Amino acid sequence: MTHQLKSAVIGCGHMDSLHAQAIRLSPHTTLVAVCDSERNRAESLARRFESRTYDDLSLLLQHELPDVVTVATPDHLHLDIVLKAIAAGCHVFCEKPLATELRDAQRMSDAAVQQGVWLSVNYNRRYSFGYRKAKELIGSGRIGEVKHAIISVTDRTPSPKVARKPTVILTTLLTHHIDLLRYFCGEVTSVHARFSDATPNGLLEHVILSFQLAGGAVATIVAGYRDDQSRTTERMEISGTRGSIVVEDVTRSVKLIALETDRVELFQPNHFVASDSFYATVTDHVQDFIEHIAEDREPLNSGREGVRGLKIAAAAVQSHREGKSVEV
Ligand SMILES: NC(=O)c1ccc[n+]([C@@H]2O[C@H](COP(=O)([O-])OP(=O)(O)OC[C@H]3O[C@@H](n4cnc5c(N)ncnc54)[C@H](O)[C@@H]3O)[C@@H](O)[C@H]2O)c1
Repeated sequence: MTHQLKSAVIGCGHMDSLHAQAIRLSPHTTLVAVCDSERNRAESLARRFESRTYDDLSLLLQHELPDVVTVATPDHLHLDIVLKAIAAGCHVFCEKPLATELRDAQRMSDAAVQQGVWLSVNYNRRYSFGYRKAKELIGSGRIGEVKHAIISVTDRTPSPKVARKPTVILTTLLTHHIDLLRYFCGEVTSVHARFSDATPNGLLEHVILSFQLAGGAVATIVAGYRDDQSRTTERMEISGTRGSIVVEDVTRSVKLIALETDRVELFQPNHFVASDSFYATVTDHVQDFIEHIAEDREPLNSGREGVRGLKIAAAAVQSHREGKSVEV
């Protein structure tokens, strides 16, 4: 049996319309209201999606009694909004990272458990063409047992509004990639981090992270920021006892390289299908969350996953400070 749900979107910036679009496309819910502290932003989104407008979350919760709230405010503002929505009995889908501090993410996850609602964090890469295909190939044994993985990522330097700590790259960007390692290779048991020197803007912009994983695999993430880069670029290579898989740029292509290394199979998304685009991963994730709530099932990427990602990020900061590996 499914329930018909009422949903609201909080934070009407860049990500908002993806959340609103997902809600509009879901057969299980209706978008009743949107909220932004800058009212004109909420009004503009509400006009496009025919919903009511608020600039105060408490009033929205009181008047609309939503079942589901999606949160797309800047990272450091997730905590108060998520706690308020949970206290009002809402299931919450929150943009990554769940919070900027581990202790705040833990409070959110604990609050959801106590209130008996679901909290989910947007690790949308799990819904992409590239990583879905890689999961399928690994699941069918095509590369044997996973032994190591390398992820390289670059992104645009974040604005000062987001970049509030020198090591912000670990939370606002790399929680996605730490999640991918856990998804493909198993639980992280220890991490070693080495950052480049701080740049004039105070950020530690480049980092190499080495991981050990519970099943015996090892992995590395190398990441960096560049001013004015138009969007994120990334590549994952995952190797096993019988071959390797390379995922280019999340959705661009997947290569399967067998033990006979000159034989390569190439998989590419259908470029005529918009549902294979990067941002469709966000709408797919929101819709999947809502479907799970409507069917009373635990959604993917629960608050616990969000907490775990931040715990590993915090261990990386400790490793950088102490100059040694840290067990997680
Ligand atoms: N999953 C992804 O691929 C992905 C990509 C980009 C951004 N994000 C995440 O999405 C979130 C939002 O990012 P963005 O780029 O859309 O930010 P943004 O700055 O464009 O938009 C944030 C909006 O929140 C509003 N806001 C601020 N405080 C508020 C409050 N107390 N109540 C209601 N509204 C408030 C702002 O006025 C603004 O309109 C961040 O957590 C970011 O890390 C995720």
